[in-house]
Amino acid sequence: MSNKYLIANWKMQLSIGESRSLALELAERLASTRTDWSVAVCPSGPALSQVAESVRGSDLLLGAQNSFWEDRGAYTGEVSPANLKELGCSLCLVGHSERREYLGETDEMVGRKVAALLARNIMPVICVGETENERDDGRSEEVIVRQLTSALADADCRSSDGQRLIVVYEPIWMIGSGRTIELEDVTASAQLIRSTLNELCTAAAADRFCTVAYGGSVDAVNLSGFLSCPGIDGALVGGDSLTADNFMGLLEIASRS
Ligand code: PGA
Repeated sequence: MSNKYLIANWKMQLSIGESRSLALELAERLASTRTDWSVAVCPSGPALSQVAESVRGSDLLLGAQNSFWEDRGAYTGEVSPANLKELGCSLCLVGHSERREYLGETDEMVGRKVAALLARNIMPVICVGETENERDDGRSEEVIVRQLTSALADADCRSSDGQRLIVVYEPIWMIGSGRTIELEDVTASAQLIRSTLNELCTAAAADRFCTVAYGGSVDAVNLSGFLSCPGIDGALVGGDSLTADNFMGLLEIASRS
């Protein structure tokens, strides 16, 4: 599997039937696509088991949008990493800004989730990024370093036989907004994430096991620009991942980059 990742975040946008059909079509089209990219879809929780069936035996990876940190217990409404593993999930989003904002997910919770996922051999896709106000106040760097440090606080990522993880730089003001961001700013954030990972995990482990990606209004017009930023080896896509044509179009662009 390549260490470059194109990941679809379907959020809560599709019915279970729509998720199943879209996954089937993507798995089929991926089979006849030449690419050195790893491709994943993250359906909503209730659609996971049907999408798992759709992607079985294909190269399309299954991801979840959320996980709890315990494997079992009296935690009404939560989903355990053990269940995600049973379903065949290879990866799981953690700390998406929508969960931080609407569900009160804290840096500490994100750290516990990352450790629990790694323990189950599920690749965490850790989302970090600043709000517009934080950016205007010149606090972007501080926020990114704080979020990333907490996310890895409980994880053992220093070992040389470590597990892969993905960090996605998602400036919150770019998500679903269709706005533009300077590529120098994306590069600077990617470099900051890389140097923070070097400190948290050791440079050798970070180099080997960590992928840095970009997310926020990714589309067919801006993707190649984001992928040209040094240090960016992936994309997390919301709106433009909801049809097979759009998402496969992004994969084509990524594969040429
Ligand atoms: P967007 O969402 O591509 O619709 O901006 C990205 C995300 O929230 O992960």
